[in-house]
Amino acid sequence: MIKNRREFLTTGVRAGAAISVLGAPSLDSARAMGLGSSPPPRGSSHPLRILILGGTSFLGPHQIAYAMKRGHSITIFTRGRTEPTVHQGLFKDVEHLIGDREDNLEALKGRTWDAVIDNSGSRVAWTRDSARLLRDSADVYLYTSSTGVYYPYLGADIGEETELVLEVPAGIDDEQEMEYGFGVMKANSEIEARREFGADRTITVRPTYMMGPADRTDRFTYWPVRLSRGGEIMVPGQGKDPVQYIDVRDVADWMIRLIESRGIGTFNAVGPASATGMHAFVYGAHAAFSSAASFVMIPDYEFLQEHGVGYSIPWIRPTGDNYGSARVNNQSAIANGLTFRPLADSVRDIHDWWYSDAVQQERRERMESGPRSLMAREAEIIAAWRAR
Ligand SMILES: NC(=O)c1ccc[n+]([C@@H]2O[C@H](COP(=O)([O-])OP(=O)(O)OC[C@H]3O[C@@H](n4cnc5c(N)ncnc54)[C@H](OP(=O)(O)O)[C@@H]3O)[C@@H](O)[C@H]2O)c1
Repeated sequence: MIKNRREFLTTGVRAGAAISVLGAPSLDSARAMGLGSSPPPRGSSHPLRILILGGTSFLGPHQIAYAMKRGHSITIFTRGRTEPTVHQGLFKDVEHLIGDREDNLEALKGRTWDAVIDNSGSRVAWTRDSARLLRDSADVYLYTSSTGVYYPYLGADIGEETELVLEVPAGIDDEQEMEYGFGVMKANSEIEARREFGADRTITVRPTYMMGPADRTDRFTYWPVRLSRGGEIMVPGQGKDPVQYIDVRDVADWMIRLIESRGIGTFNAVGPASATGMHAFVYGAHAAFSSAASFVMIPDYEFLQEHGVGYSIPWIRPTGDNYGSARVNNQSAIANGLTFRPLADSVRDIHDWWYSDAVQQERRERMESGPRSLMAREAEIIAAWRAR
C-alpha cells in the first residue's frame, strides 16, 4: 500500500531520475509532460484499494480479475446499466457504487482509495470533475487514454512526447471530425487528470486497438472467426503494411502492476513487441487453428477502396492521416513492464469466447452474414480481384 503521499512522491521522483525516456527531449520536460519515468514493476506486496470508474464492459472485468488475483480490493462506479459478460462470478466480491459521471458523483464523496482507474472517461468534464473530487481521496489516478490522441498519425515512430492536437480544426470532413474529436477529447482529459492529481501522481496509458474476450466492437474478432473456418481467405493490404494491436488482458494486467509499482508516467500500450506486417500477422494468427487455408493477398489500395475495404482491424490503409496509426513506439511501455501473450493464444481465446454463451447468436450472425458483413462479401471481392 502507498503509505503516505510524501513516500509516494519521493519514490516517484527517485525513480524518475533513474530511467531515461526514449526520445524524450530532456528529463525535466519529460517529467512535466508526465512521460514514463518509473522502474519496471516489482509485483505487489501490499493489498491495495482500487476504485474503477467503469469496470463492467471490456477492459474493466479483466482489470478486476487480475487485481483480485493479486489480493487487491475493488470498488466500481457505474450507472448500473452495463452488465459484465466475462468474470461475472467475481462481481459478488466487488463493491458497486451507483452514480452518473454526467451529474451525480455523490457516491464517491467521503471515501478513500489507494488508486483510481478512469476507464469511462469519454468526456473531458467527466475526468476533470472526478479527478478534482478524488485528488485528496486517492494517491494515484490512472487515466485510460488511447493512441487516438496522435491523430492525424503522420509520424513513422510516434513516441509519448509527440505534441498532441488539442482542438478540432475547422473545415474537415465527417470522418476526420470523428477521429479528431475522439483524440482531442482524450488528450484534454489527460491534461485534466494531470492538472488535478499532479504529474507525479498520474499514470496515463494510451492503448492501441485492444482485442480479447468481451470485446464489444467485433472489429478484430473478425480474424479469429474467419481464420478458424479456413478456405480461401481474403487478406487486404500489402505484406509489410504495419499492424499494431494488444490483448486487453495484457493492458489490464499491466495497469494493475503499474499501480502496484507506482509507475508514474505516460505510456503507449501497443503490441506486438516488434514491428509486424499484415502478412506476418495473418500467418501468426492462423497458427491458432488447424483449418486448411489459402490466402488471397489483395495489395491494391484502390481496388480495396472501390470494394469498401478501407480497413480490416488490425489492418488500416497506412496512407494520409493514417500513415502512422500502426507505427506507435512501445519501448517505454516495455521498459516499464508491459508484456505480450502470444498472438495465437489471444486468437484462440477470442474464438472460444465468441462461440460461448457470452455472445448472442444474433450478434454472431450479424458479423458473419449480416448486411454489412465483410465476411459475407468476401467471395465476391475475391472473384472481382481475379477478374480485374
Ligand atoms: N476498445 C479499444 O480498442 C480501446 C482502445 C484504446 C482505448 N480504449 C479506451 O479504453 C477505455 C475502456 O473502456 P471499456 O468499455 O472497456 O471500460 P469498462 O470499464 O469495462 O466499461 C466502461 C464503463 O463505463 C460505465 N459508464 C458509462 N457511462 C457512464 C456514466 N455516465 N457514468 C458512470 N459510469 C458510466 C459503464 O457502466 P454503465 O453503463 O452501467 O454506466 C461501464 O462500466 C475507454 O476509455 C476507451 O476509450 C479502448
